[in-house]
Amino acid sequence: MIKVVVFDAYGTLFDVYSIGALADRLYPGHGAAIATIWRDKQIEYTRLIAMSDPHGTGGSRFYQSFWNITRAALRYALERLALPQSEAQEEALMGQYAKLEAFPENLDVLQRLKAQSFATAILSNGSEGMLDKAVQSAGMADALDKIISVDSVRTFKTMPTSYGLVGKAFEVQPHEVLFVSSNAWDALGATWFGFKTLWVNRQNLPFEAIGPRPHFAGADLNAVFAALA
Ligand code: LAC
Repeated sequence: MIKVVVFDAYGTLFDVYSIGALADRLYPGHGAAIATIWRDKQIEYTRLIAMSDPHGTGGSRFYQSFWNITRAALRYALERLALPQSEAQEEALMGQYAKLEAFPENLDVLQRLKAQSFATAILSNGSEGMLDKAVQSAGMADALDKIISVDSVRTFKTMPTSYGLVGKAFEVQPHEVLFVSSNAWDALGATWFGFKTLWVNRQNLPFEAIGPRPHFAGADLNAVFAALA
């Protein structure tokens, strides 16, 4: 029996694709490459930080907030592509990250879950400030019981301490949690952790070539209702 439905934030609730469009306006012809390298580097840095000090009490001593990592990864992407960097362009792209729109069906799905008495939450690598802003601007605050950031444990997904935050926020066992992510690696990490998982495959991508498949998959967030049925 699922007691709580927990969502990843970036790519799952909040649409990160708009970043590529803005990047293409600022750097014509390079938007897709910027967005891809930026995202890959951002996630790579989270893993580098987490893996390089996995047993640190109080998290990794190399911890930096996801906001800082996101900025650093953007700088890397521009340098890698030998594109000019200016404060104005950086602020425009970071500003876009701060006010990402939610996917169109998401608010309705969250409200329907609340109406069915499910507990709902976000568990994200995002820093608390980033998440609060995104949740407020998407009008989701009333539809989410908790916004859980890995900030409090100073490491990142897929570290078990990160997924373990759900069990600290709610009185639940891992198998009573439905974890929903559009990021295949996150869905896999959560499956390994012991959650029930739903992979929202918005881009029709292949799943990871290692590990078990998530328990459920679907094309948008409405798939959560089939997973809970
Ligand atoms: C998050 C990123 C990984 O929100 O999408 O945790």
